[in-house]
Amino acid sequence: MIVKEIPFTLKDGRNAWLRCGRDEDIPGLLEYLRRSAGETEFILRYPEECGKYTAEKEKEYIDMQNAADNRVMLVCLVEGKIAGNCEIFWSNNLKTKHRASVAIALLKEYWNQGIGTKMFETLIRIAEGNPDLIQIELEFIEGNTRARALYEKMGFRITGMLPDAIRLRDGTLLNEYSMVRKIRR
Ligand SMILES: CC(C)(COP(=O)(O)OP(=O)(O)OC[C@H]1O[C@@H](n2cnc3c(N)ncnc32)[C@H](O)[C@@H]1OP(=O)(O)O)[C@@H](O)C(=O)NCCC(=O)NCCS
Repeated sequence: MIVKEIPFTLKDGRNAWLRCGRDEDIPGLLEYLRRSAGETEFILRYPEECGKYTAEKEKEYIDMQNAADNRVMLVCLVEGKIAGNCEIFWSNNLKTKHRASVAIALLKEYWNQGIGTKMFETLIRIAEGNPDLIQIELEFIEGNTRARALYEKMGFRITGMLPDAIRLRDGTLLNEYSMVRKIRR
């Protein structure tokens, strides 16, 4: 689904935009996918697992997101560069079409600038525009205090914990927490 471009200002005063992905974003998105995988343990890929991301696959992915009636992907551009992206998607199945899921990640150099907050305000507004949805769901990995703080600020509450959901390369096991934010009942 395509949504209108949203301009905003970062905490440091730089101009930024949220908008749906375009072909011109492909090199920046590939760079972001690879770099972000090495900058945090809190996303589900290691840099060596990023070989599967190619320009062709990324174009297919952007086209799929923009054409779907149950998905929105937004990229964030800061001074023309891709800072990260976020997604919201929901099922079309009768029994689960009241539930949306979201995902978000940014390159480290753009953390703590308010981009995550703007992304969530936008994703929540999109969800509120779909009368079928009653809740948004997400997961975060134990220790991701920045993500948790953002999600709680945006009205999400912890609903459960999956023990040992993540195993890092060094064997460390981490729990995964699920959160829900109600849109309406
Ligand atoms: C999690 C992430 C998306 C947050 O985006 P962001 O743009 O940095 O978030 P914002 O700047 O809008 O807000 C972060 C909030 O957390 C607060 N915060 C920052 N570090 C914190 C910490 N260590 N503990 C608690 N709160 C913290 C900030 O003060 C800010 O709140 P405020 O705006 O009320 O001051 C981003 O940091 C990121 O991409 N991290 C790596 C990937 C990731 O973890 N993705 C989520 C997977 S579940």
